[in-house]
Amino acid sequence: MTVAEALLDKQEIFPPPEAFAAAAAIPGMAAYRTLMAEAERDYEGFWARLARETLSWKKPFAKVLDETAAPFYKWFEDGRLNASYNSLDRHVEAGHGNRVAIIFEADNGAVTRVTYRDLLLQVCRFANALKKRGIKKGDRVVIYMPMSIEGIAAMQACARIGATHSVVFGGFSSKALHERIVDVGAVAVITADEQVRGGKVLPLKQIVDEALAMEGCDAVQSVIVYRRTGGNIPWVAGRDLWMHELTRGESDSCEPEWVSAEHPLFILYTSGSTGKPKGVQHSTGGYLLWAAQTMKWTFDWKPGDIFWCTADIGWVTGHSYIAYGPLVLGGTQVVFEGVPTYPNAGRFWEMIARHRVSVFYTAPTAIRSLVKTSELDPNTRPTAYDLSSLRLLGTVGEPISPQTWRWYYDQVGGGRCPVVDTWWQTETGGHMIAPMPGATPLVPGSCTLPLPGIMAAIVDETGQEEPNGQGGLLVIKRPWPAMLRTVWGDPERFRKSYFPEELGGHLYLAGDGATRDKDTGYFTITGRIDDVLNVSGHRLGTMEIESALVANPLVAEAAVVSRPDELTGEAIVAFVVLKRQGPGDGDARQLADELRAWVGKEIGPIAKPKDIRFGENLPKTRSGKIMRRLLRSIAKEEGITQDVSTLENPAILSQLGKSY
Ligand code: PRX
Repeated sequence: MTVAEALLDKQEIFPPPEAFAAAAAIPGMAAYRTLMAEAERDYEGFWARLARETLSWKKPFAKVLDETAAPFYKWFEDGRLNASYNSLDRHVEAGHGNRVAIIFEADNGAVTRVTYRDLLLQVCRFANALKKRGIKKGDRVVIYMPMSIEGIAAMQACARIGATHSVVFGGFSSKALHERIVDVGAVAVITADEQVRGGKVLPLKQIVDEALAMEGCDAVQSVIVYRRTGGNIPWVAGRDLWMHELTRGESDSCEPEWVSAEHPLFILYTSGSTGKPKGVQHSTGGYLLWAAQTMKWTFDWKPGDIFWCTADIGWVTGHSYIAYGPLVLGGTQVVFEGVPTYPNAGRFWEMIARHRVSVFYTAPTAIRSLVKTSELDPNTRPTAYDLSSLRLLGTVGEPISPQTWRWYYDQVGGGRCPVVDTWWQTETGGHMIAPMPGATPLVPGSCTLPLPGIMAAIVDETGQEEPNGQGGLLVIKRPWPAMLRTVWGDPERFRKSYFPEELGGHLYLAGDGATRDKDTGYFTITGRIDDVLNVSGHRLGTMEIESALVANPLVAEAAVVSRPDELTGEAIVAFVVLKRQGPGDGDARQLADELRAWVGKEIGPIAKPKDIRFGENLPKTRSGKIMRRLLRSIAKEEGITQDVSTLENPAILSQLGKSY
């Protein structure tokens, strides 16, 4: 850290602007503390109050929290509701049918607006069509879609009939898609012919076909295709159906399936420390409550706001802050098909100005890349656009450095808008530690304090709480309504990963390291403590990438670590041992490119290693354990300070020194 950064870290504090605070949902630290005290005094009462105020229940719940099968907690279980009813019908019934729900901007700039009434009708027709295909409550449906109104409607239609959706990010390969289709036991896949991003057309349906041609997908009876481009695509008669043909003539009313609050709304795969991604299972009631409640608190959402979250629906951020949170509150949001740099790096700012966006939520990696491009081309600087509609900015997915925070605050927010740095995870369902923008004084680089009702702490390796000023493991001490319920099909993995015995079995282990400021108690996230990488805000397991590499016929062994990267936060570095003699300098580059392409096919382009280093073997301890700390030093190209006397073959260190 530079001195300037250190000063920034310690001395720059940004209290909420007075006018902002006065109108905010949580209008000051006293209000925040009152909510926290309410939760501490009567934990169940606190959550019950919020659940009653924020959601519409078909049948009210009598029991709030059931801890009998801990850590398999249940919330509001005897209450019945429907996520789609909460997102759509109730706003139409309240007279807001003509309110715009989604302002969709396509890659080429074409804008489509859909009102709550029209979205409801579209979702009902689609839900009826799904039912006609035999899809019913409890079935799993995989959604592999571009950013689109149809993608959101597909999620909502599943929720309407009680089917559990599992959205797979459109950047994952056919193999990754196949793995998820099989694991979740999908009966249908909803996709598009192609997707359009940054002026390029990319296949989706073709990838679905490749995935379904692999073993174990017999349960998939229907592939429903949204026609986005009209391009040529492969077709399997009987199984494949156009979305527009399937829904034509369907009734535009569909009684929602009233499900228990514990009914699984969705399963979303995310990386863990083994080679196999985890199917994080979320509930309906607890999840929906928090998606909406955090909109009110962290984003201080108000009627009239134009909200824009730039995430993809393939990630949890796109679930909570596109497909559900904003709709549950009856908000108006921008949904964007494209990328921030097309047709130029001013696209975000141009769109904020065009749609008068008031709350903007994006990832530090996007901000970092736009800082860079704006230095090169003044026309793409945020200050070249009218961003006066903004009142609040947010970030998510990875740590944001104090410099990047300052740029966002000054250049994008014009020094007027609080920046909420939100820490959370696929597993937590919604924000966990984040500033309340009308209350919390901001410190760049810190996600500040837990949300009301969230009991976060830092503990040591035995589960003992650390005093402020000490670093350690980030845990959540009490169950909360939006927490994951289990790992799909693997309850033991759920228990071991998130409620480990070593910590006593009752603390939720986030998998992140953190520190708390001595004076303020503010949290700063220091990064993952497990074998999970964060590349451009995307979560990837080192084991997943290693498995992909060793699946290549040329590769004998591989180890993956990360190094810091200016743009992507972390960059993937792969150490590879080939089955044959190591490559000569000439073909090493070509081989590295081949391996990168291979990983792209196995997992997806986001998992391609940036650096590949070849060696005759990997540095291991006597007991055969790969010396990952040493690999990390090599990856960072810093001097090796570790003891290397146990290395079988110290000469490999010089081989590994070359990166391709
Ligand atoms: O390491 C933390 C990092 O992203 C991880 C969660 O990734 P994922 O489940 O894909 O969800 C991302 C979107 C919620 C965390 O364990 N992370 C997320 N937000 C922050 C963060 N690290 C630092 N600061 C954040 N604000």
